[in-house]
Amino acid sequence: MEQFEQQLLAILTRHLSVPTAKGMIGRAREKAGIPTDRPATPADLPRMVGQLEAGVRLFAPEAAREPMLQALRRLQDGPANLPPVTRDVRDENGILQVRSDVLSMCESAGAGSLSTQKAMTLVSELARNIVNYTLGGKVRLELTSLRPLRLRITATDQGGGIPNLEEILTGNYRSKTGMGRGILGAKRLSNNFDIKTGAAGTRVEAELSL
Ligand SMILES: Nc1ncnc2c1ncn2[C@@H]1O[C@H](COP(=O)(O)OP(=O)(O)O)[C@@H](O)[C@H]1O
Ligand SMILES: [Mg+2]
Repeated sequence: MEQFEQQLLAILTRHLSVPTAKGMIGRAREKAGIPTDRPATPADLPRMVGQLEAGVRLFAPEAAREPMLQALRRLQDGPANLPPVTRDVRDENGILQVRSDVLSMCESAGAGSLSTQKAMTLVSELARNIVNYTLGGKVRLELTSLRPLRLRITATDQGGGIPNLEEILTGNYRSKTGMGRGILGAKRLSNNFDIKTGAAGTRVEAELSL
């Protein structure tokens, strides 16, 4: 199944069984006149969305309907409806806040659960470093593309910088968490990763395909 249908499936299976969701996508494909030998693409969505919405109204539990319809609409409208979020991070509460931000951003965009976990881990590690090693900073979350789905996480602080960055990136430094996470783990989870660090602070930019 292609990425776009995966995104649809991720939205629908949040509250519906996989067979029900697949059945709905199948009927929406038929309705839209999509040949069986090709996957649905974002360009097909306007012709599929009416049937999908009817399915949501029919099969989804009452409380789940509106969030699911919203997620479908966002998929249609593009990233303009999912604005970037910037949070001040200086304590545990700030970490919880950005974790919750990235979770709802991923869910609204229809990211799968594995991608969402990756994004949560990345955001947590970067936010935790700000809290542990500086007086505070900011984490910005931005969906740079909906199709394919791409998230950019930018963590900035005015701390003292990371003098041994080289050592950390070559894997010769053992993270205190001892869980293979930290900066190197964040880099490995990312599709694009950039750190600028110095006496004036640190800026980490991580991009993730969801
Ligand atoms: N934002 C930051 N500002 C200053 N130093 C940092 C920052 N982030 C990380 N560091 C330094 O880099 C080291 C490695 O970080 P990391 O890979 O996250 O592992 P851990 O946090 O488990 O030690 C930290 O121990 C800390 O000394
Ligand atoms: Mg760390």
